[in-house]
Amino acid sequence: MSIKVCVFDAYGTLFDVASAARELALQPGRERLKNCWVKLANDWRQKQLQYSWLRTIMNKHIDFWSITQDGLDWALEANNLSDDVDLRKELLKLYFNLTAYPEVSQMLSDLRSNHILTGILSNGSPDMLNGAVQSAGISDLLNEVISVEDVGVFKPDISIYELVEKRFGCEIREVLFVSSNCWDACAAASFGFQTGWVNRSNDPTDRLPSGNLVIMKDLSDIATLVV
Ligand code: LAC
Repeated sequence: MSIKVCVFDAYGTLFDVASAARELALQPGRERLKNCWVKLANDWRQKQLQYSWLRTIMNKHIDFWSITQDGLDWALEANNLSDDVDLRKELLKLYFNLTAYPEVSQMLSDLRSNHILTGILSNGSPDMLNGAVQSAGISDLLNEVISVEDVGVFKPDISIYELVEKRFGCEIREVLFVSSNCWDACAAASFGFQTGWVNRSNDPTDRLPSGNLVIMKDLSDIATLVV
């Protein structure tokens, strides 16, 4: 591969979206959450994604932070936790400052040492992406943080993947795009990027159009793909 630019999805790929519910469930006095945090985190994520796709189809865009709150409200009600106002507030606070997966900093440093430009291409709104990038301490390791808010629709709309060429001034074939969301990886590969799918949970491949997906269990081996 003659890769010059490596671009990552953010939520679920660099940042662990389940970490907010998992961390809070460990705190004393959070017994109700402790019993259902896995389902809550999953419901929250699924609704967040569904709302992003549905609003794109409906032509009713709102930013991803608003969608994240709507998804959480659905998930709290589905898990009988709507009455816990403090839980909602704390989950959102943690989500705004999400934890990065442990291998992320080293992996980005390795790419930069190999003279690869790095970036994020995410549905996230600029402020929430900034919050996560700052709390993960990786802002110096990223050349660009690209939010869909520049366009006003969500991935996998093709116009979002086009932002990478515009912002980096590169060609499609020079980009390695990496996502833990198989639908996102399929769309990126179909667009023409070299694409890695991070399959941490050993999920089946989505039955969607794609090019060749390089499948990996985490982000540790990315640098070996680009040299
Ligand atoms: C993102 C979501 C899709 O970061 O994970 O774009």
